[in-house]
Amino acid sequence: MKKIFCTAVAVAVASFLFSGCDGFSKQEVKMSHAQIETHPEHLGLVAFKEHVESKLGDKFEITIYPNATLGANEKVIQNVKAGEVEYLVISSANLELVDDIYSLFSLPYLFTSEDAFESFITDTKTLDRLSTDSIDNGFSTVAVFTSGTRNFYATTPIKTVADIQGKKIRVQAGPANVAMIQAFGGTAVPMSFGEVYGALKNGTLDGAENNELALTDQRHGDIAKYYTYDRHQMSPDWLVASNKFLESLSKEERKVFEEAALIAQQTEMAAWHGSITDAKEHAKSMGVQFIDVNVEDFRNKVLPLHEQFLADHPEYKDLYDSANQANVAQTQAASAETEQESETSDVSTPNQDEKSSN
Ligand code: GCU
Repeated sequence: MKKIFCTAVAVAVASFLFSGCDGFSKQEVKMSHAQIETHPEHLGLVAFKEHVESKLGDKFEITIYPNATLGANEKVIQNVKAGEVEYLVISSANLELVDDIYSLFSLPYLFTSEDAFESFITDTKTLDRLSTDSIDNGFSTVAVFTSGTRNFYATTPIKTVADIQGKKIRVQAGPANVAMIQAFGGTAVPMSFGEVYGALKNGTLDGAENNELALTDQRHGDIAKYYTYDRHQMSPDWLVASNKFLESLSKEERKVFEEAALIAQQTEMAAWHGSITDAKEHAKSMGVQFIDVNVEDFRNKVLPLHEQFLADHPEYKDLYDSANQANVAQTQAASAETEQESETSDVSTPNQDEKSSN
């Protein structure tokens, strides 16, 4: 309560300072997210802030609120819709609660590789399609952030699908994630990100599912010592903006904010893979064990959810098909690369022979 009260007072004071007194009329732009300050998403928002303030610093001051200090994302999205918070980084699963087109990304094994996933989410056609859908909901989707691959982690090892049976697994709020855990045979416990540590500690949960950063940034690896590479979900986060705010901007200002969104996206993506490598090393030093499993067994268990999704949402079939095309294109690109590599090595062999015979 105290924390919420203090945050509310801080926001009120900041708003007054930025827009309340004469002669000091910079507009505060609030950006909210739920990660810590070294997370790639925070770095993306810092790059956003720098870009906007370098171009429009006389008019706007960007304040980044990390660690869900403005509240859990499920709540802040309502503030964005109302125009009280200008920007928010939010997961696909949480957005699904306000626009079910985002439930596509909760489908397990939608993507066959992170390359296909990244090429699909960064395709401007994808962003346009989602943003058009969301516009009537009071917000616009202005950038996408990768969130890697989600895997299970628990207080006891998950080595086979059967090990999920009977486990209480935290999921992000949203029906698609609940359905996924049920299909795996576990008990789904929907919960906000910030509550997971306490629930793992007091035994309300046996495990959760997320990318490797949850082990270290959120310290879940203090309690859950087994991380299983079943690779069930690649689900991005989105930078969403309040339509009220975007509509209040002039054409020139809006262009600067759009450039900043793209810079944030590129910054986040560039930082991502390095931070996962670091997190994995850090988690090992916390005593977390990484377990490789037969991914096909896990995949087969939940594949019927794809048919269910298409039956429930024929209106999103175009997006589903585009995601599959990204998979196919990536597989073709990877095999063309392998072929080229083997041709190069075939060509280089005689040369090497020549050299050695000389
Ligand atoms: C990841 C993701 C967040 C999400 C969180 C969660 O950290 O990047 O957007 O909120 O998982 O599981 O709640």
